[in-house]
Amino acid sequence: MTLLPPGHPWRQHLIQLDTVDSTNRYAKDLARQGAPEGTVVIAKEQTGGRGRLGRSFCSPAGQGLYLSLILRPECKPDALLHLTCAAGVAAAEAVEKTVGIRPGIKWTNDLVFGKRKLGGILTELSVSSQTGKVDYVIIGIGINCRQTEADFPRELQGLACSLHTVTGRPVDPNVLASELIAALHFLCCGLFSRKSDILTQFRQDCVTLGQEVSILRGDEVRHGRALSVNDDGGLLVAYPDGSQQIIASGEVSIRGMYGYL
Ligand code: BTN
Repeated sequence: MTLLPPGHPWRQHLIQLDTVDSTNRYAKDLARQGAPEGTVVIAKEQTGGRGRLGRSFCSPAGQGLYLSLILRPECKPDALLHLTCAAGVAAAEAVEKTVGIRPGIKWTNDLVFGKRKLGGILTELSVSSQTGKVDYVIIGIGINCRQTEADFPRELQGLACSLHTVTGRPVDPNVLASELIAALHFLCCGLFSRKSDILTQFRQDCVTLGQEVSILRGDEVRHGRALSVNDDGGLLVAYPDGSQQIIASGEVSIRGMYGYL
């Protein structure tokens, strides 16, 4: 299937693999070798799919979309704090265009339907030691497409979902890929000029807002309520003692989601 229409600026840089350990790892190697912005790596299967915080991302052959995109924005890393939010909005957009239902986003990098995880985003960034500017960014997105409940490993059953389990019909990962690349391209063109619109949309999609959350930092756990998302994509949390904190990264669990009660 042709994933990108003729003339699309990223068409020349599309790499489709049958199997790879991780499309993010593969894209990172390409970026180090000088691959241009708009290089997209898609694999039918990942044998070592990676998630945030050192976790793995279950990536069975033909069952999901596993995609990594290389960007080379000319800016300091601080200017990209909203990038994962932007990638989440693009992924939600692509899912909605493909199946007609929009997933929520659990701050900051999970796509969800109800209380179950549909997919995740792993953004990785490299900074030039000479200029202090961004050398390249990898946006990695994984979305479950064809799995039935029984296809998920036991430890994910009841916690994960796929476009199949949500809509009642299996979805071709390539159809979703085509929509996702289009959404990512639109997003990248307006990453800075449309930042405020992107964050407005993220706040609408973000299911974490208003919820009771647990903030995990090493061994410390704090419970609070998620109030808002700031202009850098940080999560403002209020604690029972009246204090507030902006969470920029790390682990945030929502009460009642993925088995956290
Ligand atoms: C998470 O759930 O914490 C993030 C999951 C990100 C998975 C995607 S699949 C494509 C890309 N390659 C990887 O190894 N990871 C990302």
